Amino acid sequence: MPRILVLHGPNLNLLGQREPDIYGAVTLEEINHRLKTIAAEHEVELEILQSNHEGVLVDAIQEAMGRVDALVINAGAFTHTSVALRDAIAAVKLPTIEVHLSNLSRREGFRQHSYLTEVAIGQIMGFGADSYTLGLHAAILYLDRHVA
Ligand code: DQA
Repeated sequence: MPRILVLHGPNLNLLGQREPDIYGAVTLEEINHRLKTIAAEHEVELEILQSNHEGVLVDAIQEAMGRVDALVINAGAFTHTSVALRDAIAAVKLPTIEVHLSNLSRREGFRQHSYLTEVAIGQIMGFGADSYTLGLHAAILYLDRHVA
């Protein structure tokens, strides 16, 4: 069974109560539940981790090497700051889908640059909680097409 790791970065534990006009009313627990349902339907093993700490996310990416087939990551604010996360993804060479709830292109200037885009196979943003489900579907399709 293919294994996919979903990583949620800082402040995403507050989804549902955090700036709902931007990020929506769906909680992280509900998003994770939806992801697990999709994974079960597609016979994919899912691991999910949320952390507010950059180093914990770097460790999780490193530990995924050779054990996991793809990453789906919303790095939150670390998207715009973290060379360390970028380097970790580049090091493990896992196919990575970058997701964001909001459409970064329509937001503040400091959110216009992502350190992750260059090392991701693709980016999905602007669909609220559905960005995650689309991201997981993208990872599953990618593995179907690229892994024997
Ligand atoms: C976010 C966008 C980031 O700019 C922000 O810092 C977040 C969430 C999103 O999902 O839209 O925490 O990654």
